[in-house]
Amino acid sequence: MRDQAQALRDLMSGRHTAAAQMEPAPPSLPAESAARILAVTSGKGGVGKSNFSLNFALALQARGKRVLVFDADIGLANIDVLLGDHPPYNLYHLLNRERTMEEIIREHSSGVSFIAGGSGFRELLDLSPEELDSFAAQIETLSTRYDYILFDTGAGLSKETLKFILAAEETILVTTPEPTSLTDAYAILKMVAGMDRTVTYRLVVNRVSYPKEGQATADNFRMAAERFLSLDIPLLGFIPDDPYVSKAVRKQTPFLAAFPTCPASRSIRELADQMDAGAPKPQDRESGMARFVKKMVNLLRQ
Ligand SMILES: Nc1ncnc2c1ncn2[C@@H]1O[C@H](COP(=O)(O)OP(=O)(O)OP(=O)(O)O)[C@@H](O)[C@H]1O
Ligand SMILES: [Mg+2]
Repeated sequence: MRDQAQALRDLMSGRHTAAAQMEPAPPSLPAESAARILAVTSGKGGVGKSNFSLNFALALQARGKRVLVFDADIGLANIDVLLGDHPPYNLYHLLNRERTMEEIIREHSSGVSFIAGGSGFRELLDLSPEELDSFAAQIETLSTRYDYILFDTGAGLSKETLKFILAAEETILVTTPEPTSLTDAYAILKMVAGMDRTVTYRLVVNRVSYPKEGQATADNFRMAAERFLSLDIPLLGFIPDDPYVSKAVRKQTPFLAAFPTCPASRSIRELADQMDAGAPKPQDRESGMARFVKKMVNLLRQ
């Protein structure tokens, strides 16, 4: 991968001054700086993935972590709408080598760093081997710059979303207590389990009316996954149904920034604490990013 990264830096240095000034990636990535790669997904649409991703990113940042949100929703760009910020460049421009990774990362005033997907994710499926290698090298440069990278995927199982789930280190499965959301989330588990049983999950129950509802929903879901699919789906936590979420969406600001003491903000901070507390020790695992890139490239080559 080092050769690919070098080749890419050489390529870019001819065209972009910013790229030429980019710090060279270290020859081997120190284990302690390995980014943790999380895919955020759901069965049913509109259950709160994008709001979760943005606010979870901010809550992790408040814990001193460096976080990047990647809008990996093929259908609709979400993150930029939620932030009221439409970056001129997105993944498409990176894949077409018009812009560097540096240039497509947007720092929003709320503190969130994000990459807009645009039409880039569809392009991912049609890359030549050389283009794929350069994409992999670009992605790898993120490893030392972030502690967490969150891929906010589309709902349901598209070919693209599936690749993110299969490649990511962990998948955060978001559901609401509604039966339709739960059955669709279960359908995702079942389909992915049919392909790869090593994928690990964390469950987030969003929009719960009261804590007991969240607990009962999680218990039922986990029991079904255990009983019928032999899968353990640890619970990351609940987020209450909170009118401030919708108010923040209308203000195009993450709720954690607009209403830091609202019930949803309090919960998302707890979820971030929980995630960070459960972080695997760096020496216990292969660099999250290296593993992700290897898997992603293999999946895209198929
Ligand atoms: N905890 C919550 N309390 C109240 N409303 C919520 C909550 N979470 C999400 N919502 C509402 O649900 C809407 C959809 O949320 P969001 O856009 O995050 O969902 P999504 O899963 O990313 O949707 P899509 O599948 O279209 O990408 C929000 O605009 C908000 O009104
Ligand atoms: Mg979304």
